[in-house]
Amino acid sequence: MLLQENISLKPYNTFGIDVKARYFATFNDTDELAETLNLKSQTSNLIVGGGSNILLTKDYDGLVLKNEICGIVELHEDSEYVYVKAGAGENWHQFVLYCIERNWAGVENLSLIPGNVGASPMQNIGAYGVEIDDVFWDLEAFHKKDKKVVTFTRSDCEFGYRESVFKEKFKDQFVILNVTFQLRKKPRFNTSYGAIEQELERMGVKELSLKAISAAVINIRNSKLPNPGEIGNAGSFFKNPSVTNEQFVSLKARFENMAGHENIDGTVKLAAGWLIEQCGWKGYRKGDAGCHAKQALVLVNYGNATGREIYNLSEEIMQSVKEKFGLTLEREVNII
Ligand code: FAD
Ligand code: EPU
Repeated sequence: MLLQENISLKPYNTFGIDVKARYFATFNDTDELAETLNLKSQTSNLIVGGGSNILLTKDYDGLVLKNEICGIVELHEDSEYVYVKAGAGENWHQFVLYCIERNWAGVENLSLIPGNVGASPMQNIGAYGVEIDDVFWDLEAFHKKDKKVVTFTRSDCEFGYRESVFKEKFKDQFVILNVTFQLRKKPRFNTSYGAIEQELERMGVKELSLKAISAAVINIRNSKLPNPGEIGNAGSFFKNPSVTNEQFVSLKARFENMAGHENIDGTVKLAAGWLIEQCGWKGYRKGDAGCHAKQALVLVNYGNATGREIYNLSEEIMQSVKEKFGLTLEREVNII
């Protein structure tokens, strides 16, 4: 184990924020993780995967631990499913491609989401009509204080829209070591969401396949989301807010173009990107902090913005959405 001191975290977060970590180490297995945590038991610690859902607002005066536990194993199968365990340090998109290659279905709509497998249950990642919740079997996590490995089933995780127990009641208590997915041997294609069907048609796809759906999702994502390799960002900065049906009716009376999607509990989900655009922020730039020109829900770092500048911009956006619509946006990105 190599413990580094005072190193820049710029390569470890997709916002490209240049702050320092007091200590930094990687770990490849549970023993190495436990050993490092023991060594620095008196300091705070932060686990990172791909750093694609964090905003670093200051130097981190503690230990940053990068999860590099790798390996993908087919555990067993039954008549319908194959059960596949992936190390938390595996790159998410590479894992998706691995599954598609073997014709294991369920994660194709989640193509091209940045980050690692270990963070995927943290906020129950989702896109194009699918969430981790739909394919999750169980995970193993290391309890930092008790030094024990605990198994979490799907119901233990209490998944919700961009939520899980790891983001809420067990925040900062566990390190996710691996995740097991339940994938279909016979695909059930899900093309109903957004522009997937339109894109498949544009691509001239005659016969549906996991590869075709993945390619369509990749095309759509590339058309509106900035590539973090080129412009720093962490995807959607805010969650899409939900309101009661009565609230929606009264908002719609004032803003006739407002769209909403009914959730299963009867509440209505609004598009935060639309709300932000209506407040005039789309394409806004102040210094190197900005609101993306093709997707207002994505805040960007054009180069040398500080985490504080991005955070302050998010505050201003929240304030104007509150003033115009009376709605409080919630940040999706983890503020550190
Ligand atoms: P990190 O940013 O490293 O960590 C995120 C949080 O999880 C932090 O609090 C961290 O401490 C914690 N954490 C990380 N790994 C572990 C672990 N092993 N154990 C315990 N805690 C851990 N998200 C979506 O849901 N849908 C999308 O469509 C989507 N699109 C995106 C597009 C772009 C361009 C970008 C940049 C991001 C997008 N995201 C999306 C957000 C992001 O990709 C996901 O949240 C992803 O799961 C983060 O993975 P990560 O490994 O980078 O996590
Ligand atoms: N919209 C605008 N202006 C904008 C952006 C969006 O009017 O600047 C409108 C669009 O026209 C559309 C609606 O908002 O009617 C929804 O937009 P989009 O399909 O781009 O999706 P989103 O709701 O902005 C969510 C997720 C994404 C996920 C996509 C696809 C959240 C917070 N974000 O974005 O996830 O990839 O749907 O499923 O739920 C992420 O979490 O980081 C992320 C990128």
